[in-house]
Amino acid sequence: MLTARCCSRTLALRLRSCPPLRRSLSSVTENDILHFSKILDPPSIISTLSPIHSSLEDLHPFNNDWMRKYSGRATTVLKPRTTQQVSEILKWCHEREIPVVPQGGNTGLVGGSIPLNDEVVISMANMNNVRSFDPVSGILVAEAGCILQSLTDYVAPHNHIMPLDLGAKGSCQIGGNVSTNAGGLRLLRYGSLHGSVLGVEVVLPDGTILDQLTTLRKDNTGYDLKQLFIGSEGTLGIITGVSILTPPAPQASNNVILALPHFDNVRPLYQTVKGQLSEILSAFEFIDRTAYDLAVKHGQGRALNEEDVEGAECFVLVETSGGRREHDEEKLNDLLETLLSADRPLINTGVLAQNPAQFSSLWALREGVTEAVSKEGKAYKYDISVPLSTFKEVVDITRNHLQSQGLLHEDAVSHVLGYGHVGDGNLHLNVIAKAYTQEIQDALEPFIYELVASHRGSISAEHGVGSMKTHALHYSKDKISLELMKKIKEMFDPKGIMNPGKVIA
Ligand code: FAD
Ligand code: MLT
Ligand code: ZN
Repeated sequence: MLTARCCSRTLALRLRSCPPLRRSLSSVTENDILHFSKILDPPSIISTLSPIHSSLEDLHPFNNDWMRKYSGRATTVLKPRTTQQVSEILKWCHEREIPVVPQGGNTGLVGGSIPLNDEVVISMANMNNVRSFDPVSGILVAEAGCILQSLTDYVAPHNHIMPLDLGAKGSCQIGGNVSTNAGGLRLLRYGSLHGSVLGVEVVLPDGTILDQLTTLRKDNTGYDLKQLFIGSEGTLGIITGVSILTPPAPQASNNVILALPHFDNVRPLYQTVKGQLSEILSAFEFIDRTAYDLAVKHGQGRALNEEDVEGAECFVLVETSGGRREHDEEKLNDLLETLLSADRPLINTGVLAQNPAQFSSLWALREGVTEAVSKEGKAYKYDISVPLSTFKEVVDITRNHLQSQGLLHEDAVSHVLGYGHVGDGNLHLNVIAKAYTQEIQDALEPFIYELVASHRGSISAEHGVGSMKTHALHYSKDKISLELMKKIKEMFDPKGIMNPGKVIA
């Protein structure tokens, strides 16, 4: 790489967001299993009930989330292969008033894909076919259970990429991505899924199939219903198919990690970088020093040289994607020269990737923070939108608050850190603790939500609401918006069987 230089109560967590479950909803019975057996082949049903008799271990991956923070008590998981099967399952569940939880790759970070009680899990893993791809328009139509990485691999030989990328790409599914309106590392360049998703096929709670799987880029025929399903986290229906616009693959990509002496430099740096790189800038990602140290400690990417890291308060990863390698490299080198030769340089160093392996290694330092955090301890994750100028302040205030509560020590909270998507104003404020405890939870909430509200920010920038934040929605949505959301939910799902207790309690 080229370096340029300038000078106890474990798990007592009473998830307050858990609603007092169920008005009059039913549990799955053996009779229901007999009915599901008429719709699905035997391997597509996992159930502890007769006549299937699966073990609790078989259900474990579906009842527990990626962070091991949320757990459910589902007795039954159904894995349909076709939209028709999803429709027949929901029709039955609707009649019997059995609640269901749609589940994609189960990488969500807000407890949305885990039952709160014994709801049936409908896993989309078996619906993993690409239905069509048009290499001229770049429009891909895929079943909801396709894994994001496999779609990336599918379009790559046609010189296209997926318009989104995230650390969970090896497990998350396109249906899960659309249902959470996932943001990720490419949003700065390609915008949100509200723009790139062209259509969806959805099975509504009563089993009706809503075919909005259009491949049109323009369609102004009234209300755009698909938008309701983007980000609705399985509370309005099950997405079975997605039509999405994939951009042409850039001819050349490069990246550089910039080490900054002060967080205050991030804002002017972003302005300079945007100004100089303009159309080739494709990512501008931020990690603070704690996040960097943890990524290195847990083997995410290769550590930078000691002298590059010395005196750095935080780091920014800049990626370029463009049409001509020489042109892009020239721009990136010019940028580094400008930054390093300034009278009061905004950066200490810049470490530029020289080959694909170094490119991946630099990305791993940023992308790998999530994994590193979860290896270090139990993570309380707050995915917030606040003004960029307050990113550091929010992290510091939270740390000081925990300190004042006597919780900043190795038996309680070990780290408070920040990283995220600068270009999108999205900070990931993470608190790492030895265990999930009620005491820490009470110290963090509503403290953080009030802090976010004081900046008129959002309590969920990209991860969604799930079961984690249902009780806190009012910090980011006014009364009228909340009432309208409830009416929409009632209209689609009057019996309340779709992912109960998520998004709207
Ligand atoms: P799941 O976790 O299975 O489900 C998420 C929600 O969608 C649940 O409410 C579920 O009920 C619903 N759902 C799933 N499939 C369907 C369907 N077919 N129909 C209806 N509802 C459905 N998120 C970001 O936004 N940006 C990131 O950069 C990012 N990085 C991550 C990195 C790591 C390492 C991890 C573990 C997670 C990350 N996430 C990120 C969070 C998560 O990966 C995304 O929210 C992802 O989109 C979830 O997809 P999934 O298939 O795993 O969905
Ligand atoms: C990220 O940007 O890395 C993801 O949103 C996951 C996380 O917040 O840890
Ligand atoms: Zn993120």
